[in-house]
Amino acid sequence: MSKIAFIGGGNMSSCIFDGIKRAHKDADDIYVSGPHLEKLAKFADKKAKITTSNVEAAKESDIIFLGVKPQMLTSVLQELKDNGIDFSAKILVSMAAGFKIASIRRLTAAPYIVRIMPSTPAKIGLGITGIYFENGIDDKNKKLISSLLEPLGMLCRLNSEEGINAIGALAGSAPAFLYRFFEAVEHECIRYGFSQSDARKIVEQLGLGTSSMVIHNHETPISALREAVTSKGGTTYEGLQQMTAFKFEEMIEEVFKACMKKTHLFEEMF
Ligand SMILES: NC(=O)c1ccc[n+]([C@@H]2O[C@H](COP(=O)([O-])OP(=O)(O)OC[C@H]3O[C@@H](n4cnc5c(N)ncnc54)[C@H](OP(=O)(O)O)[C@@H]3O)[C@@H](O)[C@H]2O)c1
Repeated sequence: MSKIAFIGGGNMSSCIFDGIKRAHKDADDIYVSGPHLEKLAKFADKKAKITTSNVEAAKESDIIFLGVKPQMLTSVLQELKDNGIDFSAKILVSMAAGFKIASIRRLTAAPYIVRIMPSTPAKIGLGITGIYFENGIDDKNKKLISSLLEPLGMLCRLNSEEGINAIGALAGSAPAFLYRFFEAVEHECIRYGFSQSDARKIVEQLGLGTSSMVIHNHETPISALREAVTSKGGTTYEGLQQMTAFKFEEMIEEVFKACMKKTHLFEEMF
């Protein structure tokens, strides 16, 4: 097993770390670094080596997950470079949104860089993780890095960094859009007299049942599933007419366009 480090032990690093520990029982040599040692205790409890020194973690590792926020990444990479970390035989795996490989390479001269884009349902093994390997990373390492991420759920191999941006919006941000829909339905349940607790249960079952229908009827177009609940002139039909009147599809298109625009702005900043 290669030696692994996480620079930054926040939410997403924790998610990936837990996945690795579930799937690779022999992975005891994982470093996690961050500015507050007390916040890293949960990693130490799972046999990780924790440190406040990013340099120590990077020096000791072959595969380095960059788990800091994008706005911190420049200074973290600069710190590693200034402290003499030799990246020539290391693989950097960046999960930072809107931070291009070219920017990471400008700061580190690292030859091997992978971009990944996880999503929060990865916490329960049901995420969608985009992955983009640059040319130069050999099949053995591609396989190894993929195996570290597979426990997070579906792994989606992409052919470009723009693919990473797209999956960031379509799978990374989209849970927030679905939550917003669930929140709105929960609110309606309460408006129609259900208690908060019942409203929550209704939303949970609605999400589970509807997603399961899509999964169990994999060969059926989603539009056909919708039509199956829509009799012309019936109640659902009337509701859908309102979605059309409020330009639902155009709204969704604009939502994703806005995500992509912001990602491109970030790319220019870093
Ligand atoms: N969360 C998501 O859904 C998601 C999805 C896709 C991609 N990502 C990407 O994942 C990355 C991490 O996001 P997150 O949600 O996990 O954020 P987070 O929970 O805030 O984690 C960031 C971590 O970085 C640590 N940190 C701050 N300054 C540091 C430094 N100088 N050196 C080392 N560590 C430092 C923080 O430690 P302290 O708390 O001790 O300050 C914190 O543990 C981001 O680049 C984000 O774009 C996140």
